[in-house]
Amino acid sequence: MPVTIARPRSLRGEIIAPGDKSVSHRAIMFNALSNTGTAHVTNFSPGADCTSTVEIMRALGVEITREPGRNGMGDSLTVKGVGLNGLKEPSDILDAGNSGTTTRLMSGILAGRDILTILTGDDSIKSRPMGRVVKPLTQMGAVISGRADDTLAPLVFHGGSLHESTYDMPVASAQLKSSLLLAGLRADGKTTLNQPAESRDHTELMLTAMDVNLTKTGLNIVLEPSEIETVDVEVPGDISSAAFWMVAGITHPDAELLIRNVGINPTRAGVITALEMMGANLTLINEREVAGEQVADVLVKSSELKGIELSGDIVPLLMDEIPVIAIAAAVADGETVIRDAAELIVKESDRIHASVTWLNGAGVDAVGTDDGMILPGGQIIGGGQFQSFDDHRLAMSLGVAGLISTDPITILDPDVAGISYPSFWEIIKDLGGIVA
Ligand code: S3P
Repeated sequence: MPVTIARPRSLRGEIIAPGDKSVSHRAIMFNALSNTGTAHVTNFSPGADCTSTVEIMRALGVEITREPGRNGMGDSLTVKGVGLNGLKEPSDILDAGNSGTTTRLMSGILAGRDILTILTGDDSIKSRPMGRVVKPLTQMGAVISGRADDTLAPLVFHGGSLHESTYDMPVASAQLKSSLLLAGLRADGKTTLNQPAESRDHTELMLTAMDVNLTKTGLNIVLEPSEIETVDVEVPGDISSAAFWMVAGITHPDAELLIRNVGINPTRAGVITALEMMGANLTLINEREVAGEQVADVLVKSSELKGIELSGDIVPLLMDEIPVIAIAAAVADGETVIRDAAELIVKESDRIHASVTWLNGAGVDAVGTDDGMILPGGQIIGGGQFQSFDDHRLAMSLGVAGLISTDPITILDPDVAGISYPSFWEIIKDLGGIVA
């Protein structure tokens, strides 16, 4: 059912960020491959994407229990490790749903095994580039086939045996590097990766905590094949989910929002840097470390924003947040130029096209380019009815727009937010935002 959001007079409250999606996937996958026992994972991401990972691991014979969390925290899970070579052949096709992380990381896990597996997902997944993992995994010795000359899902993993390899990654992608590192655990020698720029490093942090011999020197990563140890993971809050409230708080004229338990790992926190560059009234409080990841509470207040240029190495550190940063840029004083973000085109939707289309539809001047967007700034966001392009981050960006637009914004397909943040609309309502 559609939802309509109208601007509340003021925007005040406290929000607990839901468990981080990237860390949740990894906590399940890596512990499933451990050989030392049962791991406890708490504050697990409530989104459908991470449930896809749980279901796939169960289909591969991993015992996973799941109970609701307490005091507003995400679910608590246990995962019984089967060891690096203990996955069982599934009786059916594995379904990653909408999750690129599941598809690409599982590809590294399924590559070069003596079981036959077939991995697919929804229409978005079936259109996203998988050749970027298939090609290097094949070079390592895996036998994989897929549609469109082995570049699109469904992907079929036939076996093979994995060898020592060195790979110069053509894109800064955490999913690609994680996929190759996971395959490298079972290779007959070292896996060396050269990254063009840094991307989120949850895989490196968690594998290191699991006693894997992984060395990082600048952008170069070397992993020695090894068994992995079980670790309990308390998942930090998801900065990508928190970013919606950050932008709402700084763009609404009478706002003060406290977002609790936000993971601020420096390889994820590009959005904080960008909003600070724009002049956001944003304060990190109670900074602490949770399970090897940095966490803070984020206080945001109404701000006078200015346009900025976003390009180069910061871009992979805020890629998922660009659709909502575009809202801050639209209303900021002066032009914002976003470059070096061509990866946006191959996310859950083409996020350059999707963002520019809805912004233009709401009366905002914005132009898409080959690798980003140009937003002249100083704009007023009007209202209207919009589709989310079947993209959770677009749907939630439209929700934030509705909190500050002159006229109500109707999102025709709001349920897609459940991919990462099922309670998003309830929170908008608690903040006084939903009219229908
Ligand atoms: C993710 C990596 C990012 C991000 C995605 C989650 C991950 O993609 O966009 O939502 O958990 O590894 P890249 O592979 O492009 O870095």
